Amino acid sequence: MSTIVPPRLPARRLTRPALFVLALAFPGCGEVESMPNPDPSKLDAVEFARVRLGHGLFFDPGLSGVGDVSCASCHEPAEFGADGLARSEGTGGAIVRRNAPSVFNAALKTRQFWDGRAQSLEEQASGPLFAVDEMGQTEQGLLEHVGQAWAQQLALAFPGEPGPTVEQVTVALASYQQMLPRRSRFDRFVDGDRSAISREARRGYRIFRRNCTDCHDGAGVGGTEYRKLGEDVPWPRERREDLGLFEVTGDPDDTMVFMVPSLRNVAETGPWFHDGSVESLEEAIELMARHQLDRSFTSAQVGALVSFLETLTAEDVQPWAYEDWDPGPTFEDDIPGEG
Ligand code: HEC
Ligand code: HEC
Repeated sequence: MSTIVPPRLPARRLTRPALFVLALAFPGCGEVESMPNPDPSKLDAVEFARVRLGHGLFFDPGLSGVGDVSCASCHEPAEFGADGLARSEGTGGAIVRRNAPSVFNAALKTRQFWDGRAQSLEEQASGPLFAVDEMGQTEQGLLEHVGQAWAQQLALAFPGEPGPTVEQVTVALASYQQMLPRRSRFDRFVDGDRSAISREARRGYRIFRRNCTDCHDGAGVGGTEYRKLGEDVPWPRERREDLGLFEVTGDPDDTMVFMVPSLRNVAETGPWFHDGSVESLEEAIELMARHQLDRSFTSAQVGALVSFLETLTAEDVQPWAYEDWDPGPTFEDDIPGEG
């Protein structure tokens, strides 16, 4: 029972064979899809209790070894689930090696981390908890704290199970993060409301579909694969400190292979790239054009692409993304009127 998590978001996804056929028919062409908002009314009492517990844990600095850092320190809801820094600051002020991706879109992705080393959100969560420079926690310290601070909510979230366990913590955190994605103007556009985005953004979308959806596709507009950074023209030498997937697999073919990030909320989550080295969206687009596509865009084309990327910003932030979300004591009261 302990491994049951709420079902993945029902984002409409093309199956792999369908993607393959599409890729053959239109080289360089995946599809970008709209997504529904997660719907809390579809969760049963136990699932909802896990989301509530996950919300509490996400903001709890007690999860870190010395109590100074929570998940939200680096994935701040007010910063669209990222931290606005090139590289995050972990426990004791340690600067971590990579840029913090937004957690708002993590549930839409099939791989986690810039090097794709975690396959699920549950697997992902134990990474920062026990990384010395991130939260610097030990398993024993975590379980002691959670057992003391969250006993009541744990019993609701994992009824009849012995606990606390590390798995329960990661399942609760994952359940919570599954509820964070939020629709944007672009979703309304894809669902048929042409006026939801400007003419300029529609132009940008056409350019995007012709050039970028081979890698940035699906409901997350990315997050489904890893690709070599510098596929067509080698990535600039001074930006090649971090070797990506190679550091996990040791396979030379994986050198500079990184996760293709989700571009949802991208206009709000700079600085960009795994090392946070790029400070403008225009420069990010120009780097992509040159190194992933071996081409260049006019400034009007770059501007149109920026307009399009801006339509991927969530129109609102989920109420439970904020620390002060207080859903009430019983399940009936707990279902917020939000869809
Ligand atoms: C010290 C800052 C910091 C803290 C604290 C932190 N993270 Fe992260 N998080 C990062 C960084 C940096 C990455 C990217 C690491 C990498 O790819 O190697 C990341 C990656 C992730 C990802 C993968 C996102 C993606 O798009 O691949 C998720 C999900 C996530 N963190 C959730 C959490 C949760 C849950 C917690 C609390 C248990 C947490 N983080 C605590 C900095 C932090
Ligand atoms: C061949 C695959 C590929 C193509 C084509 C591609 N990208 Fe990317 N894109 C990536 C990868 C991989 C990354 C992650 C880079 C890293 O590790 O920092 C990325 C990163 C980005 C980022 C930074 C996101 C962030 O959160 O840091 C933006 C913006 C972006 N791409 C936009 C575009 C646009 C616009 C196009 C089309 C003009 C495009 N990409 C085409 C693979 C691709």
